[in-house]
Amino acid sequence: MTAKIIDGKNLSVQIKAEIASKITALDKAPCLAVILVGNDEASLVYDRNKQKAAQTVGMDCEFYHLEEQTKEQELLDLISRLNNDSHVNGIIVQLPLPKHLDTKKILEAVAPKKDVDGFNPVNAGRLQSKDSEAFVSATPRGVLFMLQSVCSDLSGKNVVIIGRSNIVGRPLASLLLNHDCTVTVTHSKTKNIQDFTKNADIVIAACGCPKMVKKEWIKDGAIVIDVGINRIDGKLCGDVDFEDVLSVAGYVTPVPGGVGPMTIAMLLENTYDAYLKQNGIVKK
Ligand code: GUN
Repeated sequence: MTAKIIDGKNLSVQIKAEIASKITALDKAPCLAVILVGNDEASLVYDRNKQKAAQTVGMDCEFYHLEEQTKEQELLDLISRLNNDSHVNGIIVQLPLPKHLDTKKILEAVAPKKDVDGFNPVNAGRLQSKDSEAFVSATPRGVLFMLQSVCSDLSGKNVVIIGRSNIVGRPLASLLLNHDCTVTVTHSKTKNIQDFTKNADIVIAACGCPKMVKKEWIKDGAIVIDVGINRIDGKLCGDVDFEDVLSVAGYVTPVPGGVGPMTIAMLLENTYDAYLKQNGIVKK
């Protein structure tokens, strides 16, 4: 078998075109506020891409680039101001934050109705209790979209997630459980992860270990989703050994051009949804 590629870049272009067309029907453009503290290189690239994508679909994007030494109160004041600014529909605080800032406190400060990253515990709790009001974090939402693009019925599928982060592994487990999958979450303390993945219909790697997932870990025809973004000798690669699994998987996502562009498309979709909710418009 040679795996088919799930092209996240192409899917994201289609999603963004749909958002752009929906925005033309609104009275005003939705607005996303992006906050970056410090100069983390990867974060600078991600935030630039988010700004560009927002502009492409006709959204307003306010970028707040604060210096590394920013005091916690200053950041909390900015979030409070944006929470109360009716022009702003969505707010994201790029992670990781510099060490002197309390991430939990900062994420709790973002108003749940503008929390388009879904990182506020109110939205995380809503997702866990299958409340449709939840903003679902962009990466898990993008992974779900990719799965649904190649699998019309996820019900009863055995899914193994590698990684238990608050940004990907945990919300993804809740989201897929809400879609009737049987979900196993493995992590750095799991013994013999391959004993779990070998029997899975769907394997999702989000552990930050370059090329860890090999073909021996994968069942014939399984769907393999790679959330990892790593660099080996300056070259981007995922948590899956892409070339290796091609001969056994049914579908696989590339890095780059897989989950990454989907995350940005879903962030825009969340911001559009936030605009509708804040303006009392029912989504069709
Ligand atoms: N850092 C890594 N992924 C993300 C994300 O999806 N949102 C934010 N705000 N920070 C991140």
